[in-house]
Amino acid sequence: MKNYASRELNAERVAQEVSAFYECHPYPPPVDDLDRYRKLWDDARRRADVHLFWPDEPYRDDRTILVAGCGTSQAAKYALRWPNAKVTGIDVSATSIEKTERLKRKYGLDNLDVIQLPVERATELGRSFEHVVCTGVLHHLPDPDAGLRALHDVLAPDGAMHLMVYAPYGRAGVYLLQDYCRRLGIGTSSQEIKDLAASLSALPPDHPLVPLLRNSPDFRDEAALADALLHPQDRAYSVPQLLDFLAAADLSFGRWVRQAAYLPQCGALASTPHQALLARLPPEEQYAAVELFRGSMLRHSVVAYRNDRPHHDSVSFKGDAWLGYVPIRLPDTIVVQEKLPPGAAAVLINRNHTYTDLYLPIDARQKKLFDAIDGKRCIGEIAPENALRETARVLFEGLWCYDQMVFDTSHKRRQL
Ligand SMILES: C[S@@+](CC[C@H](N)C(=O)[O-])C[C@H]1O[C@@H](n2cnc3c(N)ncnc32)[C@H](O)[C@@H]1O
Repeated sequence: MKNYASRELNAERVAQEVSAFYECHPYPPPVDDLDRYRKLWDDARRRADVHLFWPDEPYRDDRTILVAGCGTSQAAKYALRWPNAKVTGIDVSATSIEKTERLKRKYGLDNLDVIQLPVERATELGRSFEHVVCTGVLHHLPDPDAGLRALHDVLAPDGAMHLMVYAPYGRAGVYLLQDYCRRLGIGTSSQEIKDLAASLSALPPDHPLVPLLRNSPDFRDEAALADALLHPQDRAYSVPQLLDFLAAADLSFGRWVRQAAYLPQCGALASTPHQALLARLPPEEQYAAVELFRGSMLRHSVVAYRNDRPHHDSVSFKGDAWLGYVPIRLPDTIVVQEKLPPGAAAVLINRNHTYTDLYLPIDARQKKLFDAIDGKRCIGEIAPENALRETARVLFEGLWCYDQMVFDTSHKRRQL
């Protein structure tokens, strides 16, 4: 009983520290211009986003959305990109709420409600949501399980959740420096952050933090540095820990928001002598193994559903249902046609991938099918000849794995 009470007190103290931290260091840094963001979200981007989360439902843009731990602009961005949706943003930080309210006024976002409320108390909203978005928040809670449970409880049975939590191996350098700062008693005043930034320039070049300082947007300015290195509460989840975290909240893994980096058949691992051993493992063991092999993942972004969700078909290239899928190109993908590897007619790249081994070469026959994708016709219509079926299956499964496409599978098998 005593132990329980002191745990509660400790959790309360951490929650207060986290909340105070974000009052002083709102993250991401506030923005007041979302014009470019609004332009980015055209119909094509919206359609691809919907079928990422709900491949087997017809397109809809009027869902109810909860942005949990919305920070300074995320809820406003969701309201802007989904004008027909009803968006609710919650956050513990009054500063974040105030910045979001300002964006709401500036852009006339009548479809947005913002409420100062901790994630753990989301059920006090008294309603459920078809889409729950919680990125960069749960790993900062004193009891992440309680936070995720609350989000589960407000997710509609047919809803989809988008979570992002830190991953441990790529952040090893961050945890070394967090410990270093704690030992020195470094606080979060502006001068202390400046001194920290100056000291980091003296890190040895082979320190595990150095690649992050060079490449990651998480370290570009003072607020980002404070969020990464001086945060009072921060834990990370390996793939198995993340899957356990979901299971404990009665949620099931749907997919990685970008999956290629987790798949042994994509990138450099595909041509190692271990390929056959990896292929024998169940998917969740494959993801865990690939995370260890890559060794530098910083975060995991995942789509999750309730365990009691009514039956849905997942995307599969077994059987022949895939012939009825309508392929939809993901935004931020590019087709490279210069300096190609031997035999390739193009190389396909998703610009959101950070690993340079994640590119998909396609040959001339595949390129012809790829060029025929129009967002309307299903694969069976794009490749009607029986002789092309296996080429099409290999191509479209590759496009799927490499995050080039999502599929609208809601038509199921059309009469072909
Ligand atoms: C790193 S920021 C992420 C903001 C936003 N989700 C994004 O991805 O841009 C973390 C946010 O979580 C909020 N936060 C921390 N603990 C919280 C809690 N218990 N309930 C709600 N929000 C919380 C902070 O105030 C901060 O705005």
